[in-house]
Amino acid sequence: MSKLASVKVGVLGLGTVGCGTLDVLARNADEISRRAGRSIEVVAAAARDLSKPRAFDCSEISLTDDPYALVADSRIDIVVELIGGTEPARELVLAALANGKHVVTANKALIALHGNEIFAAAHAQGVTVAFEAAVAGGIPVIKTLREGLAGNTVQSLAGIINGTCNYMMTAMKDRAANFDEVLVEAQELGYAEADPSFDIDGVDAAHKLTILAAIAFGVPLQFENIYVEGIRDIALDDVRYAEALGYSIKHLAIAANDSSGVQLRVHPTLIPARHMLANVNGVMNAVLIRGDAVGQMMLSGAGAGAEPTASSVVADLVDVVRALTTDPGNRVPHLAFQPDALSQAPVCPMADVESAYYLRMDARDQPGVLADIARILASHEISIEAIRQQEPAAAAVTVPVVILTQRVREQAMQLAIAEMTALADIHGDIVRYRMETFA
Ligand code: NDP
Ligand code: HSE
Repeated sequence: MSKLASVKVGVLGLGTVGCGTLDVLARNADEISRRAGRSIEVVAAAARDLSKPRAFDCSEISLTDDPYALVADSRIDIVVELIGGTEPARELVLAALANGKHVVTANKALIALHGNEIFAAAHAQGVTVAFEAAVAGGIPVIKTLREGLAGNTVQSLAGIINGTCNYMMTAMKDRAANFDEVLVEAQELGYAEADPSFDIDGVDAAHKLTILAAIAFGVPLQFENIYVEGIRDIALDDVRYAEALGYSIKHLAIAANDSSGVQLRVHPTLIPARHMLANVNGVMNAVLIRGDAVGQMMLSGAGAGAEPTASSVVADLVDVVRALTTDPGNRVPHLAFQPDALSQAPVCPMADVESAYYLRMDARDQPGVLADIARILASHEISIEAIRQQEPAAAAVTVPVVILTQRVREQAMQLAIAEMTALADIHGDIVRYRMETFA
């Protein structure tokens, strides 16, 4: 065993991931030091309320409610940021870097929104910022894209990268669960963000997609260019109708890079029920990646929760410890590509994105209505793949009609939807979801 002194770590945050990380570090201390070549010792941790009971016995660690004191503590080599949010996390991480400390973080909002500033500060100090846990919990997708697939031109990726949404949508499908009740379950299990609207409105998935796209394609971090829809409005009826047609609705983050530019979008999507991604359930995440050399591959595993996330945090710690004595100029670049070699590929406007569609509308049950709908779709060169009239609700004057279309540009579909909505025989809004087959 190495005679080198242990590497000293300070942990900001003693919540779900903070305590999970302390537990894994303590439980697997021997295995970890055999891998890292040195032992990793947590000497300090910070939280807001030191009187709160913790999921890990912190009696051997010096605790503080002053996170600024921790990032200035001269004993500490690596700061692990697990408090979440952008402030004060950003200020604390920048202070840690300015003090010459390496940083490990699970904070996707921080990296997606302030990564450029943080990586520049790290570069100036010759230190590292590691953030594997920021995307897809326990799945080593960052390392895979950044290192394992370094020989590829990555063409596309599609992921279930929010555990809370997948947990909730699985529960809605399998047990017709009520939206608000399953959200509470996800919060109790420690999956949801401090503000769960980040999960259910797709913001968290967009933060993660920002990071994945940058690493996959060598484009800048650009959260502001991501098209985002969440799961708040998904109706159980659509889950059931999609299932009857052989599809599952999943909340997907999709990025693609081709001659028309970079596509960056997060939205509920119908995918064939037999596809691998459709069978990723509960808190599990998965990322389907297509590279020109590797072909199509999928990584899957737990996307949230104390221990799976700790698995990634600790892997980053081991990586940082291994690299402590290496020349900073020769380390793996934070975002996979050399910072001065980023592509300025344009982001494809949503109006130009092509996909197939699922439409549901409430139509008056009388002759000629379907003919009108077919005429409007045809006038926008939209081909119908399937059409199905569902059972009407008791005493309803309309019947739900579900239509699957072939691939079409988003703009044509928006125009067709506007025209169909204006028909007197169509009541209310038309529900539409994009469909992907990944063929
Ligand atoms: P929690 O809310 O469970 O824990 C946050 C911790 O940070 C708490 O211990 C809190 O203290 C402490 N904290 C908050 N603000 C301050 C502050 N100003 N000064 C000192 N301490 C502070 O969050 P999670 O553990 O769930 O998440 C942590 C990070 O990991 C987030 O960035 C999250 O997005 C990310 N993440 C979470 C996953 C999960 O499954 N939960 C999975 C992957 C990433 P106190 O307890 O006293 O209130
Ligand atoms: N709230 C996030 C999720 C935690 O549900 O996926 C993991 O990043």
